[in-house]
Amino acid sequence: MLITEIIEKKRDGYENSREEIEFMIRGAVNGGVEDYQLTAWMMAICCRGMSNEETALLTSAMVRSGEIVDLSDLPGVKVDKHSTGGVGDTSTLVAVPLVAACGGTVAKMSGRGLAHSGGTVDKLESVPGVCTEQPLERFKEIVRKTGACVVGQSKNLDPADKKMYALRDVSGTVLSIPLIASSIMSKKIASGANAIVLDVKAGSGAFMETPEKARELAETMVKIGKHVGRKTVALITDMNRPLGMSIGNGLEMKEAIEVLSGAVPPDDPLYTVCFAIAAQMLKLSGIVESEEQAYPMLTAAIESGEALKRLRTMLALLGGDVSFVDEPEKLVQVRKIIPVCARIRGFVGDMNARRIGSAALLLGAGREKLSDRIDPAVGIVMKKRCGEPIEKGEALAEFYVNDESRLEEALSLFNSGIGVVTEPPEEMPLIYDLID
Ligand code: URA
Ligand code: CA
Repeated sequence: MLITEIIEKKRDGYENSREEIEFMIRGAVNGGVEDYQLTAWMMAICCRGMSNEETALLTSAMVRSGEIVDLSDLPGVKVDKHSTGGVGDTSTLVAVPLVAACGGTVAKMSGRGLAHSGGTVDKLESVPGVCTEQPLERFKEIVRKTGACVVGQSKNLDPADKKMYALRDVSGTVLSIPLIASSIMSKKIASGANAIVLDVKAGSGAFMETPEKARELAETMVKIGKHVGRKTVALITDMNRPLGMSIGNGLEMKEAIEVLSGAVPPDDPLYTVCFAIAAQMLKLSGIVESEEQAYPMLTAAIESGEALKRLRTMLALLGGDVSFVDEPEKLVQVRKIIPVCARIRGFVGDMNARRIGSAALLLGAGREKLSDRIDPAVGIVMKKRCGEPIEKGEALAEFYVNDESRLEEALSLFNSGIGVVTEPPEEMPLIYDLID
């Protein structure tokens, strides 16, 4: 097979065959296809797209590029969740223990933060001692003991995606629905789950900036799931604004603990989205027949303290010092807490979640390069929600700061992502749709 012909076919808008797609993915991993050829092909995919059939073939080839985790010796349906990435989105830390407390089984591999969006592995590591690299047998043992375990991705999982993602990141080929869908779904499928709940974000803080684009991505991923025999549903949720009030790893762990403690009202956006995700997870697990049945169970898991207990046990079994769960203030000890105040009276206007997330990154809550070190205690706590009235001089947010070297830059970015306006902005939906 001629590599240039495979690339040219896609460049000219034709479909690649199963053999061609498998050849490119095998070559990506074993060196038979050079980086510049793989990149040219991905650029052609970006420009020309892929059919559902091609996208499913690409996903399957990526799954088979590395280790496939076998969870078949764990009881019941193994249900996973995935968010396409956002700001202040700590839903995994809430939904996973909730589902475990209701009898579900979650053996989940998560990623690290990327640019302005956070990652669950970094949030778990805000608890001192937690080790997110565990041998497969230990990972399963934790699931058997407490119903849930979240760790980092195993090294040999989906090497094709590791190669492709690194090249996409530096070649302007990230934003492509077939490439994003195959990247996400291949990792989920290779990590062994039977059922997958996707939270596809739409808005300024997401890859997909509009609900229409998010729906297209969601439908593509749900079709891939069907194609490979995994029950898959997708929620489309808003990411114009940070989901929770906290942005930063220890701050988000603390907020997750607060939600699981029952300290947050049910109309809170983070609570609402976590319940919607957990309800779908229970439904796909066969524990409930409808979302309506799931809600009282989930509420009871919070009220009884069982959901929080599951998170605490999981963190303890991962090596964590659970005094940080019992006294979450310990997670966010910083040198300075700096309020960011409104300069005029009015209402909190529309937000740009990406800029707010990037401001937290400048305080040290995220990475610009993979080698950057995260400070788990720093970040931003929002004090107001979109549309809320605010007085002149009242705090919009608080910055949790240790290193002030980029504070000015962080402040100006934050202020460009939020403002005070004279009329409250239009209310927007939090959950746009469910695709199943
Ligand atoms: N997340 C992924 O894992 N892959 C993408 O391509 C985009 C988001
Ligand atoms: Ca080579």
